[in-house]
Amino acid sequence: MYEQISHSLLNEILEELQPNIYERRRELQHFYTRLGANFYAIHNLFELLYGQRDDFKFQMTRLVEVLVRKYMNRSRKLKDLDLAREKDHNWFLSQQWVGMALYSAGFAGNLRNMATKTAYFQELGVNLVHIMPILKCPIGKSDGGYAASDFRMIDERVGTLDDLQAIAEEFNKRDILMVLDVVVNHTSDEHEWAQKAIAGDTKYQDYYYIFENRDIPDMYEESMPEIFPESSPGNFTWNETMQKWVMTVFHDFQWDLNYSNPAVFIEMIDVILFWINQGADIIRLDAVAFLWKKMGTICQNEREAHLLLQLMKDCCQVTAPGTLFIAEAIVAPVEIIKYFGEDAIIAKECEIAYNATLMALLWDAIATQNSKLLTQGLKSLPDKLERATWLNYVRCHDDIGLGFDDNDIRAAGYEPFAHRQFLIDFFTGNYPGSFANGAPFMRNDKTGDARISGSLASLAGLEKATQSGNEQEVAIAIDKILLLHNLIMAFGGIPLLYYGDEIGTFNDYGYLNDHDKSADSRWIHRPAIDWERAELRKKQGTIEHTLFTALKKMIAIRKETTAFADFNNRHLIDTNNEHLFAFMRFDHNRPSERVLVVSNFSAEAQSLDLQTLAQEGFGNSVELTDLYSGKRPTIEEGRLIVQPFHFYWLNEY
Ligand code: GLC
Repeated sequence: MYEQISHSLLNEILEELQPNIYERRRELQHFYTRLGANFYAIHNLFELLYGQRDDFKFQMTRLVEVLVRKYMNRSRKLKDLDLAREKDHNWFLSQQWVGMALYSAGFAGNLRNMATKTAYFQELGVNLVHIMPILKCPIGKSDGGYAASDFRMIDERVGTLDDLQAIAEEFNKRDILMVLDVVVNHTSDEHEWAQKAIAGDTKYQDYYYIFENRDIPDMYEESMPEIFPESSPGNFTWNETMQKWVMTVFHDFQWDLNYSNPAVFIEMIDVILFWINQGADIIRLDAVAFLWKKMGTICQNEREAHLLLQLMKDCCQVTAPGTLFIAEAIVAPVEIIKYFGEDAIIAKECEIAYNATLMALLWDAIATQNSKLLTQGLKSLPDKLERATWLNYVRCHDDIGLGFDDNDIRAAGYEPFAHRQFLIDFFTGNYPGSFANGAPFMRNDKTGDARISGSLASLAGLEKATQSGNEQEVAIAIDKILLLHNLIMAFGGIPLLYYGDEIGTFNDYGYLNDHDKSADSRWIHRPAIDWERAELRKKQGTIEHTLFTALKKMIAIRKETTAFADFNNRHLIDTNNEHLFAFMRFDHNRPSERVLVVSNFSAEAQSLDLQTLAQEGFGNSVELTDLYSGKRPTIEEGRLIVQPFHFYWLNEY
């Protein structure tokens, strides 16, 4: 949009920057076009956030300078990719993408070895890999890599920038997308900025929330929840050297960055673009709900947090429009969806968001053997924007938080507190007859709240079943693992597998003997892959083979099924059977090409009245085929029969 105030400011800024960039103006042609198109929005957002400051114009100029410098540093190859993706702007909504998240150290020992294991991804069909944080972190105070002490240096235990370059090239050759983290909300207390703040440098003290006494911290505490109540209660930490309090929402060694200071925003844009220029196709923005702190609130999901994300997006679109953002916002269902950006078609903030709602609901259905809450919870989930997509997952490196909406829990017929307690007990093995081997994470005695840790195989009962040697139980656990995966493959969005789950990796209890990890049960499900065991995926009759080949097949079929692309082309089906969960997917270009996805969460065979489908005009006088098995489904007396813990992907052929 052309608007005179911002446009004349832009001209002034460009004139000021001209001597440095004049001779390269031809090269900057695309940059200028994008800056012209986005500057009105960038200026507006920057002014909303920082317009009151005397140094507003200075900071605005610095921001543009970062954008242009990073553009000048961007390789030709990546610039070409930007142009190609601009033309094919829906590229990431395709059903072709299937992801995996992994710790490179756990997956392959380090980055260098990881480069040699890329064939494994292709074997399975994975073509988007989230390499979990690799940046320098203090030993023992790393929060699994989310406490960076240097935003540009790779931890020497994991590798070097050259190793990452080798992976980027390898991925590029094999058409695999690379996802990297930027931990935008906080730094380690050993980060240079924190160290300078501790040494008394007020410029860097202004990078954080630092207070002389408890007056303001106490007021904040009145409304702020605790994120890690067991290991880091409260939201502030006393720094002995500074003799001051620092805001530390997560661990006491993770200092929250103060985004009311524009210098922080500009530094972080520089960091984000640095990793984008290293070849990251997608940046995972960590803990985005926490970016803005406002007294009297829970300091999550604030309007300004959204404005900051919009600004980050607008800036990155000028320099590197081919790169996407993933929002890691594990918050209430109605809040998560806002991280795409509201009231738009195109994502204004992050193109991709973790579907924590679906994840938690899936675990509910596994524990209860019914889909009441799953169906209810998804009914309440608003449609996402057209040009945005979900990251659908069953497990990840974090705990499972039971962040359902209380109203949905009630509508499903449960009492919220009691139901959550049941789920916690069930998955931590405290419920009589439970098959799960999970561990509680961050019990909060004040609220009775807790979250759940554990690997997929251990939570789904495979660990217990294997130990007891009961083959039938083993088969059931495998079915449950596949049942869960069928839904992340077919729901709409990018399925994100978690490394090790494809071969049924159990909990790793080793963390209990490690002083630096024992207080954080999430380490139970951050495994080191046993590659000898992984070889068993090639040996028929093994659990590894059964799981790996089934997932491989599911992935291959997903990729061929255009109805599984993500264009808001799904609607839930009322099955009149609380054990069954069903939805219809249709090809958005050819709506008559439909796939009915039916999942049975119960230990008994269940049936679905085909009349229900006839009302949808589905299956009327045509035969149905299950895309997954390639067979006709079982139909008895006009009812579709779904075996225990099985699923169908049915189409009309
Ligand atoms: C994100 C990460 C989690 C980490 C937290 C604080 O939620 O996924 O592992 O503990 O941020 O950085």
